[in-house]
Amino acid sequence: MEFIVNPTSNSQQYQEQYATSIQKTASILEDLKKRVAEPQAFLEWIYSPNYLSEKELEAINQQAERLSQYEKIIVIGIGGSYIGAKAFIDVAQQHHFKQEERIIFAGHHLDESYLNDLLDYLDDKDFALIVISKSGGTLEPALAFRLLKDKIREKYSESAFKERIVTITDAQKGELRAFTEQHQCNSFVVPDNIGGRFSVLSPVGLLPMAVAGIDIMEFPKHLKQLQQKYLKAEEQNPVLQYAVWRNLLYNNQFAIELLVFSNPKLQALAEWWKQLFGESEGKEGKGIFPASLQLSTDLHSLGQYVQEGKKHLFETFVRIKNNANSLHIQAKSDKEHIGDFLANKTLHYINSCAEQGTIKAHSEKGEVPVFEINIEELNPKSLMELIYFFELSCAVSASLLGVNPFNQPGVEAYKQNIYDLLQS
Ligand code: PA5
Repeated sequence: MEFIVNPTSNSQQYQEQYATSIQKTASILEDLKKRVAEPQAFLEWIYSPNYLSEKELEAINQQAERLSQYEKIIVIGIGGSYIGAKAFIDVAQQHHFKQEERIIFAGHHLDESYLNDLLDYLDDKDFALIVISKSGGTLEPALAFRLLKDKIREKYSESAFKERIVTITDAQKGELRAFTEQHQCNSFVVPDNIGGRFSVLSPVGLLPMAVAGIDIMEFPKHLKQLQQKYLKAEEQNPVLQYAVWRNLLYNNQFAIELLVFSNPKLQALAEWWKQLFGESEGKEGKGIFPASLQLSTDLHSLGQYVQEGKKHLFETFVRIKNNANSLHIQAKSDKEHIGDFLANKTLHYINSCAEQGTIKAHSEKGEVPVFEINIEELNPKSLMELIYFFELSCAVSASLLGVNPFNQPGVEAYKQNIYDLLQS
C-alpha cells in the first residue's frame, strides 16, 4: 500500500505546521503503544497476544463449519457490530445480483418493510442467526433478534435456539449474555478492551467472515506484518502522515473528508470508515465530517459541487492498481457509439484513467486537496491493511485533535429520546 499526497496549489503553506505535528504524532503513537495493556484503554486491537489467537480462530472456524449446514445465515448487529464484517465479505465475494446472498444482515436499522420481507423470505429457507451486540441491549439488533427468534420458535421450536443461534457479546454483562446462558447457545466474547468500531478483527467480524469462506487463519501472519510496518514512530510512517495532513487541513477550513472509491465492493468499507472517524472524532464541537463518493456514479451528482462548490472538502482516494480479471473492449465491437480510441483497452484501465482525470481536475483546477491510498489488488489481505491503517491513523488523528477516540457519548441522546417516546 502506498500513501500519496497530491501536490495542491497551497500545500507549501503547510510545511512548518507539518513539521511540528509529525513529531507530535510520533509521541502519540509511542504513548498508544505503551498503553495497550492498560485496562479500559481500548487499545487491545493494536497488538495483544489474545487478539487473533490461534485457539480462538480455530474455534471460530469450527463454528462456521457447523453453520454451513444452514442455507441462510442472518447476521444481526449495528455499527461496529456488523459493518466491518460486511466490508470483508463484500470484498471476498463476487458481486451479487438480486437476493443471492447466503449471509443477510439485519438489525442495522428499524425499517418495518425490510424485516417483514425478510421474515417472509425465510418461510421456506433453512436458516440460523449470528447475533452480535457488545452491550447486548442495543434497540435495533434487539428488535430484529426478537422477531427472528420468534420465527425460529414458530418454524422449528424453542429447543432449536441452542443449535440455530450463535451469540457474540460481553463475557458477563447484558441481556444477550443472559439469553446465551439460559438457552446454552454457542457463543463468543467481544473483548472488553476493544470498542465496537475497532472490533472487526475479533469474533465480531471473524465469525461472519469465516462463514463466508474467508481464510481467517492467515490473519495473524498479516497482522504481524502490519504491526512491523505501521507501528514505527517515525516521520516516514504513512499512518502518521495521514493523521497529520487531516488535522492540518481541518485547521485550515477543510472540515469535510470524502473517501473516494470506484469498485462498488468498497461501499461497505466506506460506511465502516465513516463510522470509525465520525464516532471517534466528532465530539466537543470538533471533528472532520466523513463522507464518501463512488466513482464514476457520483461524478454525475456530486462532482459539480466538489469541483466548484465551497472549498471545505478534501478527498482520500482508495485506488486499486491491478484487477484479477480483465474485460477488454474488442476492436471489432461497435465503434460508432463509443469511439475507436477505446478499442483493445481494459475496463480497469479506462476506470483508472477516470480516477486519474478526476484527481487532476479536483486537485489542480478545483483546488481540492487530494490524497491517494493505492493498493495492489483488492482482497481480504489488502482490506485488512486498509483497516489497520485507518484504525491507527484514526487513533492518532483524534488524539492530535484533542478528543478521546474511544468513546461515543453523543450516541446516547437519540437512544434516550426513542425510549422516552416509546414509554410515554
Ligand atoms: O463503535 C461503537 O461502539 C458503536 O458503533 C457500536 O458498535 C454500536 O453502537 C453497536 O453496539 P452494540 O454492539 O453494543 O450493540
